[in-house]
Amino acid sequence: MYNEEEKNLMDKAREAACHAYSPYSHFKVGAAILTEKGNIYQAANIENASYSLTICAERNAATQAVYHNDINFKLIAIYVDSEIAFPPCGACRQFLAEFGDQCEVIYFNNKESNKVALRELLPHSFSLKNKEKEGVYGIR
Ligand code: THU
Repeated sequence: MYNEEEKNLMDKAREAACHAYSPYSHFKVGAAILTEKGNIYQAANIENASYSLTICAERNAATQAVYHNDINFKLIAIYVDSEIAFPPCGACRQFLAEFGDQCEVIYFNNKESNKVALRELLPHSFSLKNKEKEGVYGIR
């Protein structure tokens, strides 16, 4: 069902979940992003006693990729060690959309997996990128 590239990324997401800091929810989430350049960035969710400061695994992985100027995302795999495999939260969908309008998403747990296009998860993302006038808002 999944090709080697996808299976490898899923392994990386599962591995990343081991690095979660989640003493409050006990949800261990791992994300792995494959960029168009062929690099992989892994991260986990990091919680905080001030709950709303928690950062999801997906956004932690995205910031690492962008830090390396690797800003075109091809695929993200998201693993959660729970009964239900969940797709990325709304904030993460918008965050990912900035770096991958063609990005695909695989979300899974130990029992099930789903693959969807990011555009399907967030059909009308907010964007300041103008295809005709690239750079008009200072975005290159
Ligand atoms: N979480 C993620 O890492 N990604 C999501 O898309 C949704 C939620 C984390 C945040 C928090 O540590 C825990 O899951 C429960 O919300």
